[in-house]
Amino acid sequence: MLIKHISLANFRNYETAEVSFSPGVNLLVGPNGQGKTNLVEAIRYLSTLSSHRVAGYLPLIRHAQPEIEQAVIRVLANHDGRDALLEVELNRSSPNRARINKANATRLRDILGYVNTVTFAPEDLDIVKKDPSNRRAFIDELLVQVSPRFAGVFTDYERVLRQRNTLLRTARQTSAKGTALSTLDAWDESLVKFGAEIVAARVALVDRLRPLLTEAYQSIAIANNDPRIVTKSSLVGATLVDEDDTGALENIESSDVAEVEELFRAKLAQIRQNELDRGITMVGPHRDDLVLMLSDLPAKGYASHGESWSFALGLRLASISLLRSETRSGDPILILDDVFAELDAGRRSRLAELVANNEQVIITAAVGEDVPAELKARVFEVAAGEVSDGA
Ligand SMILES: Nc1ncnc2c1ncn2[C@@H]1O[C@H](COP(=O)(O)OP(=O)(O)OP(=O)(O)O)[C@@H](O)[C@H]1O
Ligand SMILES: [Mg+2]
Repeated sequence: MLIKHISLANFRNYETAEVSFSPGVNLLVGPNGQGKTNLVEAIRYLSTLSSHRVAGYLPLIRHAQPEIEQAVIRVLANHDGRDALLEVELNRSSPNRARINKANATRLRDILGYVNTVTFAPEDLDIVKKDPSNRRAFIDELLVQVSPRFAGVFTDYERVLRQRNTLLRTARQTSAKGTALSTLDAWDESLVKFGAEIVAARVALVDRLRPLLTEAYQSIAIANNDPRIVTKSSLVGATLVDEDDTGALENIESSDVAEVEELFRAKLAQIRQNELDRGITMVGPHRDDLVLMLSDLPAKGYASHGESWSFALGLRLASISLLRSETRSGDPILILDDVFAELDAGRRSRLAELVANNEQVIITAAVGEDVPAELKARVFEVAAGEVSDGA
């Protein structure tokens, strides 16, 4: 699929923007802080309804005095010769809304599935090197694109988690323990229902991603290391006190929702007192991790800088193959945000080779020369929230 045109109103540093993209490679160039990442963030937002940079959406509305009420992202997308006009309204003080071909969508998430994206960015290294939240964000972003209904499941899970945590804190602080405890049972059931769906779906998705990762890794890495992904869950391992200390988590292999629900229920029963003492939900998909292995050692803490880069690129390339084969919109839009400056010459040209034939690629760079010349790109210049055709 591809994007023919994007219009922005009051999105990030754009008051308005109108950009017509070409099929193939599009390059956004401009000095730091001009709005290159903001523009691709708008496209990425349409594919996941979340921002990789911030929680919530309010920072996406242009900051100005007097306060601006609404940001709009409008995209004319095309797949297989058919156009779709997609529009999201982000409202400061009323619910956000989506329109598809000018008709109001019942739910915001109905807009998902039309535009799929895979983004390569310097922060991808964090997926390999940093804490579990980076790996959860990676797999969840892919999951929402493969199965848009999960956008709803995540929202439900997060809501239940927040309310359950409040209740646990209340039960700890007040003498009304009895009432709090019986309410807790009801919340447990919702937590288990939404949480087990997420855990099982992640396991299943990782199973499908695994062979694609092996293939992708071999296409970029020089060494013949074997990359693997293992799903580790708080539902089966020792109960963690520190959120980022995932060393004690154990492998989970079941992608059967009912089975995972059983594990979840049993675990909650086992740690009830512990949770009441701490006033927080200690197990569930929000505490799980993916362990990335390279030749039988965890990449985190063992892999070299170059190997970590290859792993991160491999994960993104595997995501492209997966979206291509499992979604109705074909090639996802590839966003390469500031990556070429970070890569050595060898990886630069190999990445260029691997993305060159995708239906549409959008690249940002502060310095145009960092982008390999063999990527014959249509060039746009970005300066202070204005985009001009530099061709
Ligand atoms: N809600 C907002 N309202 C107004 N301006 C914003 C908003 N959010 C971000 N900005 C501004 O957008 C600019 C950053 O834009 P962006 O991240 O797109 O830069 P960039 O062109 O990608 O730069 P770099 O080359 O450094 O990555 C910053 O100056 C920031 O202050
Ligand atoms: Mg940027």
